[in-house]
Amino acid sequence: MKEKKKWFQEAVFYELYIRAFADANGSGHGDFRGAIEKLDHIKSLGVDCIWVMPMYPSPLKDDGYDVADYYGIHPDYGSLDDFKAFLNAAHERGLRVITDLVMNHTSSDHPWFQEARQNPDSPYRDYFVWSDTNEKYQDTRIIFLDTEASNWTYDEMAKQYFWHRFYSHQPDLNFDNPAVHEEMFRIIRFWMDMGIDGFRADAIPYLYQREGTNCENLPETHAFLKKVRRLMDEEYPDAVLIAEANQWPEDLLPYFGDGDEFQVCFHFPIMPRLYQALKAGDKTPIVDIWKRTPSIPEGTQWMTFLRNHDELTLEMVTEEVRQWMWDAYAPEPRMRLNLGIRRRQYPLLEGDKRRWFILNAMFLSLPGAPIIYYGDEIGMGDNIWLPDRNGVRTPMQWSAEKNGGFSTAEKTYLPVIDDDTYGYQRVNVAAQEGDPDSILASTRFLIRTRQSQPALRSGEFEWEETGSTAVMAFRRVEGASEILCLFNLADSTKEIEADIRPDMVDLLARKQTVRRGGSTVILEPFAAHWFRAAA
Ligand code: GLC
Repeated sequence: MKEKKKWFQEAVFYELYIRAFADANGSGHGDFRGAIEKLDHIKSLGVDCIWVMPMYPSPLKDDGYDVADYYGIHPDYGSLDDFKAFLNAAHERGLRVITDLVMNHTSSDHPWFQEARQNPDSPYRDYFVWSDTNEKYQDTRIIFLDTEASNWTYDEMAKQYFWHRFYSHQPDLNFDNPAVHEEMFRIIRFWMDMGIDGFRADAIPYLYQREGTNCENLPETHAFLKKVRRLMDEEYPDAVLIAEANQWPEDLLPYFGDGDEFQVCFHFPIMPRLYQALKAGDKTPIVDIWKRTPSIPEGTQWMTFLRNHDELTLEMVTEEVRQWMWDAYAPEPRMRLNLGIRRRQYPLLEGDKRRWFILNAMFLSLPGAPIIYYGDEIGMGDNIWLPDRNGVRTPMQWSAEKNGGFSTAEKTYLPVIDDDTYGYQRVNVAAQEGDPDSILASTRFLIRTRQSQPALRSGEFEWEETGSTAVMAFRRVEGASEILCLFNLADSTKEIEADIRPDMVDLLARKQTVRRGGSTVILEPFAAHWFRAAA
């Protein structure tokens, strides 16, 4: 007997940046009270679970991934009571909530680090990774290439170098110290006991350092993560642990363990390939990466995304493809950041609804639990002139009112998008509400259609031959539910031979139609079809 699917294997997720969503107290920053008022919007999309980006006290130099206190709520966003009210309001609507768990590093403002650098005898000294030289672990890559020259930074007060895989204001915690494990377990219990539904574990490949390695994906890291999972299984068996590990599929597999590590892992490599395939009008990159993707243990799932709060990373493609992607999608130097592209989804697609539709239809029918990034449900734009990744983290656009209806403040934490194409005056929730052709309506339609079909939620996956590199076809099957998904990636009409029986219904047929003569199928440019056999 097959095991019953777990909720997270079939869920659609929504990535929520509290600071950007809705400002209830007029401070210019979004807050939990504001987000509560907008939960019905999130619910209306048909998603199942909200991922709340870091909401902890923080100097916000890395938008909250620089945690200064693991047990609180950033005062700009509200109080712990506000967070609990948000959690309850979400649960009342049948929405689950997970938060970010940032284990790799703290903010340099965290009292542990402050104590550690000031007092060499403090027990907190050993919470971080120190060295008298900056020579150790030379085989380790630098991730934030645009801002950091080394993974070591000298601290004048400590008179030693400390190790950091990200910004120099984010010292890495020392997982060779068992006390750090205990701290993490305490933090996990604190939030789980409050009633959240799990965690997205941030930056987990980098927890340990060992000389002579690239300090990623080490066995010690996996051993610790298995301990985390054991705790979760014993104390919170219905919760989910999601791994953010930007790695190749074969390096991701160990993060599932034998079903005893993470239940869900982000599939980073598929993401840029969806854009690549669409631009090239050629399915090969998608097919190749799925062929390279190993099968995963029972009860686990991939997590897929088109965009998130970071740059569109090109770390998981070859150098040649990276250059090609930059040329294709980031012609302006300002559009590039680190090894990626700092743009949102709709501008990347040049605001072309046909491209948007096929990309999202592929994304929502390929295997995996999809995540929608806030703002992408209305095709929000970006602002490449803002520093770092801020240009894809601007205020949510609710209406044509001041600040896009996000806030009544004179000054918002970042300027609202205000350009001729993507300005809040044109692109906003209110304007799209009630417009059946809007991106908002299409997002709801696609998510709901997907979620109504067990085969699309988490069914078996199988490629279908089409005889054309431009036409991608696969079958999803779950018990009696079976869907044939068919996509024409080219901007021209394609004819293929396919066995589409007369009783098959196209779930996506709103406007596009397939003409049939015998077994010949004619696909319109960028056509997307989900064919279901009549029950
Ligand atoms: C993760 C986050 C990113 C953050 C980094 C360091 O990759 O997605 O936003 O900057 O971790 O915490």
